[in-house]
Amino acid sequence: MKIVKEIDQEILENDICLVPTMGALHEGHLSLIKEGKELGLQLMVSIFINEMQFNSKEDFINYPKSIEEDIKILENLEIDYLFIPESNYIYPLDGFDRVDSGALGKKFEGDSRPGHFDGVLTVVNRLFQIIKPKVAIFGTKDAQQLFLIKEMVNKKNYQIKIIESLTVRDDSGLALSSRNLLLSEFGKDKARLLHDILNQSKAYFCETKNLLVFEKFKSIFLKNDITLDYLEILDSETFTKPEDGTDTYIIVIAAYIENIRLIDNIEFRMEKA
Ligand code: PAJ
Repeated sequence: MKIVKEIDQEILENDICLVPTMGALHEGHLSLIKEGKELGLQLMVSIFINEMQFNSKEDFINYPKSIEEDIKILENLEIDYLFIPESNYIYPLDGFDRVDSGALGKKFEGDSRPGHFDGVLTVVNRLFQIIKPKVAIFGTKDAQQLFLIKEMVNKKNYQIKIIESLTVRDDSGLALSSRNLLLSEFGKDKARLLHDILNQSKAYFCETKNLLVFEKFKSIFLKNDITLDYLEILDSETFTKPEDGTDTYIIVIAAYIENIRLIDNIEFRMEKA
């Protein structure tokens, strides 16, 4: 594994599969990387904690960092390149393209974290411009992020194949996340409710066709001292309110537990009656 801070011509001569991350690697990241290894391209993992996508300095400072451990994990996986850029390489002083995440970038995650998706799209766009990958892999765990990245790739007409990798969970259903490291054991127990409520919301919606799951389940969160931000059923192809023609749905959830923001989602198909 070559650890690089910059991308030179020799690297660019390869067909690259890129897995962008912010480090603090867990099994969720590793499943993206393992999927990438199977493609037979040169596999590059990037670790860059992109301050631009954090809407609070405190959140950025507290974000888990474990670069030495990450390097060991990636060495064992025998990836080709680990890209750990400096901020001024990604964001040069003489200018770079900023990407506007549009109306959807201001909803759901973007509503509670203003500027977050502009920051995500700007860094992903910079990574694409610098590395010119043939393929890039992202997790469905961050469904809105993935949706916006695919939209950006289409709009900019990039010839980059986006692979969607399914959410890895622990045995109890809790979606793995770097932020779980910030929770106490008690907090982790509560976090397990998120996946439960997604499943219950799906069952309730499939039975009643009622979209108002927030109202239905909010008392469970109150009782458990969890601050529910949103729980919404959407059309997964448009990320907007379902309509008569909708047949694939996504239920998205965000909540604060011990002041830590957690997100999750469940996607499903429902045939029209
Ligand atoms: P980060 O949170 O480190 O996640 C890196 C990638 O791992 C993302 O594509 C994310 O969806 C995926 N991932 C996270 N948890 C997962 C899980 N439990 N199962 C499967 N995949 C999972 O997402 C980011 O970083 C950043 O926003 C980034 C895209 C790197 C831009 O800065």
